[in-house]
Amino acid sequence: MQIDHIGYVVKNLEKALVEFEKLGYEKCSTFFDDEKRKVRILFIKKNDYILELVEPKDESSDAYAYYKKLQNGPYHICYKVDNIDESIKNLVEEGYLIVKEKSAAIAFDNKNVCFLYKRSMGLIELVER
Ligand code: NI
Repeated sequence: MQIDHIGYVVKNLEKALVEFEKLGYEKCSTFFDDEKRKVRILFIKKNDYILELVEPKDESSDAYAYYKKLQNGPYHICYKVDNIDESIKNLVEEGYLIVKEKSAAIAFDNKNVCFLYKRSMGLIELVER
């Protein structure tokens, strides 16, 4: 599985972007408004690293729980996979729990994504290539 991005929860996308830009990050997407997940998203890049800045729109967003715990900070690693159903099955066999069933994500051109969790690992995301 190849790393696609690191998810980084923030209170305010615009304010975080200003700080990341000061450190040499550049925007590499438009702002996405994901109504289904109640988040706003922006991808930024530095060297070969892509961060997904995720701003929970309100407390009902799953990402809000991570914001509450971490404040601004990284909270998931996302991997690109060829066959998301097969990868989910393999990870479930490894003891991962499906946090959110796979569903299309606007920030990924409506490709399917799925979040899984394992206590000794943390939160990971899969995205179809
Ligand atoms: Ni992500």
